[in-house]
Amino acid sequence: MRITIGGRRSIAASVLMILAASSASLECGPAREPRPEAQRRWVDPDLSPDARAELALGAMTLDEKIALVHGGFGMPFNGKPKPDGAIGSAGYVAGIPRLGIPALQESDAGLGVANPVNVRPGDEATALPSGLAIAASFDPALAERGGAMIGAEARAKGFNVLLAGGANIARDPRNGRNFEYAAEDPLLTGMMVGAAVRGVQSNDIISTIKHYVLNAQETGRTVLSANIDEAAAREADLLAFQIAIEQGQPHAVMCGYNRVNGIYNCENKFLLGRVLKGDWGYPGFVMSDWGALHSTEAAALAGLDHESGEELDTQVFFGAPLRQAVETGRVPRSRLDDMARRILRAMFASRIIDRPPASGGFIDYHAHARVAQAIAEQGLVLLRNENALLPLAKGLRRILVLGSHADRGVLSGGGSSQVIPVGGIAVPGLGPERFPGPTVYVPSSPLDAIAAEAGGAQVDYIDGSDIAAAQRRAGDADAVIIFAHQWMAEMLDRPDLSLPDDQDRLIGAVARVNPHTVVVLETGGPVRMPWLADTPAVIAAWYPGARGGEAIARILFGGVNPSGRLPITFPRDEAQLPRPKIPGDDRAAIGDADPYRSFAPFDVNYVEGADVGYKWFDKRGEPPLYPFGHGLSYTAFALSRLTATAAGSVVTVRLDVTNAGERAGIDTPQIYLRRPDDASFPIRLVAFARVPLAPGETRQVTLAIDPRVLARFDTSANGWHIAPGRFTLHAGANARDLLLSTEVTLAEAWLKP
Ligand code: GLC
Repeated sequence: MRITIGGRRSIAASVLMILAASSASLECGPAREPRPEAQRRWVDPDLSPDARAELALGAMTLDEKIALVHGGFGMPFNGKPKPDGAIGSAGYVAGIPRLGIPALQESDAGLGVANPVNVRPGDEATALPSGLAIAASFDPALAERGGAMIGAEARAKGFNVLLAGGANIARDPRNGRNFEYAAEDPLLTGMMVGAAVRGVQSNDIISTIKHYVLNAQETGRTVLSANIDEAAAREADLLAFQIAIEQGQPHAVMCGYNRVNGIYNCENKFLLGRVLKGDWGYPGFVMSDWGALHSTEAAALAGLDHESGEELDTQVFFGAPLRQAVETGRVPRSRLDDMARRILRAMFASRIIDRPPASGGFIDYHAHARVAQAIAEQGLVLLRNENALLPLAKGLRRILVLGSHADRGVLSGGGSSQVIPVGGIAVPGLGPERFPGPTVYVPSSPLDAIAAEAGGAQVDYIDGSDIAAAQRRAGDADAVIIFAHQWMAEMLDRPDLSLPDDQDRLIGAVARVNPHTVVVLETGGPVRMPWLADTPAVIAAWYPGARGGEAIARILFGGVNPSGRLPITFPRDEAQLPRPKIPGDDRAAIGDADPYRSFAPFDVNYVEGADVGYKWFDKRGEPPLYPFGHGLSYTAFALSRLTATAAGSVVTVRLDVTNAGERAGIDTPQIYLRRPDDASFPIRLVAFARVPLAPGETRQVTLAIDPRVLARFDTSANGWHIAPGRFTLHAGANARDLLLSTEVTLAEAWLKP
């Protein structure tokens, strides 16, 4: 279309004219159909997401901009019906049909397409193993594969937003949501979650990353203030998000419920404005967690772009109150435009407008289950294997399987990330009826899988409720496999690190009568093991997902050589932790507490700063039960020829890895850094690799180190500072067994924040 402006004709002027005309006339007056020539120039896929967002924004009315920046549940909630047009899920934001802007159909979460209320019978999905299991593989490519799989299921079900990307570092091993996250270390968290987000978005849908930031416990999550100095946050919790955002390029960030240094995340100008959008130049949009918004102007001016789950807020802050704030100038019109522009940009950049998902797409659940099994097989961690009890010998006559509904399925974590698994809930009626329940076992029977692998042995199951009977039966078996459960869930932390339901007594009793006892832990994180001395073999199976039973059996009988490594330290007991008790609760049994009870605001002072997990244990010189990075194999590995070279601030490490054993396996050498001349500098994981090796094979690995993990964050300079001097680099099997070391000397350097 060409418009004559003063007799001159110019496309550029025409476009400006259209933009000016459409924005001016449509801001104030009723919505008019845009002129045909201006109609939807933003649909041109050859234009950049920024240009397309600008064009679409220019055609929007004030009401349409307001409508875009808030939304609610996409399912019936508190008597309110499911919104028209909503598929049925956690979130729904109406689109703008007049302009061809689609609705946002938002589903949880990072472990599969969760559907707390199956809107359609059979609306099931593939359950990924827990985030800890995925991270225990130390394999970003595997995490990406898992993300791609659940993103494909989200698309096939019609969702264009997956509320995935749990990137909070595991500061407290009792946190009820660690199973949704990845690790205690920022580098491992960032690499693994970033890869998962990359996988999700490879399906041309939007992924979030969440819960920005320091949402590190569930107790009192909506009132607590996580207090920490900026440098520590930058070097730990924020670095995890920074690396994950760089790696995954999520189109949305979800700000968490808690306060940080007294200010709610979703109205925290420092975290949203200065760090995320300023220092990191984040181009996407920030959505609140469901019920995490407490203001209109403060949040809008701090950098929040979207109110989500508005039914849980005390009012719809980004509805009429925001319109009024804009009209009175308390919120500049330019800020509202930026909010809408960021959401539009995410829609264009993700291609949900160009390739709108439609429900009813084909899903190859068998292939997807195999992806879940592959992840579980690489994420299970062999913690202990005395006298090479594992792999179990073929030819055993009688095997006893015990506990944790191992005849029916494997455990998963509760809350908004809960997947209704393909095949349904294996053991109905367990756990709380109300959110974050029920307790869901995924229908993948370890008993059946063990029987299939056991080469003709008689395999029996008892539930272990009668400990005396279990002891008697154990005494007659050639091997006993005890499954131990620890259900973790959103809104609920564990009161301590003990296994619930008196399982320690069962395991101790059985292990004392049978020296061939294996414990398989199905937990949401580290647990204490008072029975360990009597138990020759222990596997951390985490929540092992859709084919967890098969994965466990293949490892027990050697079909797979275990290669997982701990992404989180297993403490000996709670006294070793920065906080022996979870802050904010005056009772012991948080795990059984009413998750809906209200809390008075309280502080969580992160005295450990950036020294989270293995760094804390190293600083205190205390040995944990099992260290970060620990994991055994059925073969043996050797590390040699460690060298490091520096070019400016870029350090490159080379290392030979050898399989010195008789069977193929995967080693995960880790590189840790110390500053020999700076005792205050914590030990840090600075690089890692997954190295598959045939028996006798040696491979050289070359690893580049992100300069930021060599640096401290200097808040006065607002940047990363590499102090000049010596850097000792260790190659280790875990954070404590540092086998080789070398040194490099670096000059001083400064890096942008
Ligand atoms: C929640 C969770 C968040 C989830 C959202 C929608 O309470 O904190 O992870 O995506 O609500 O269900």
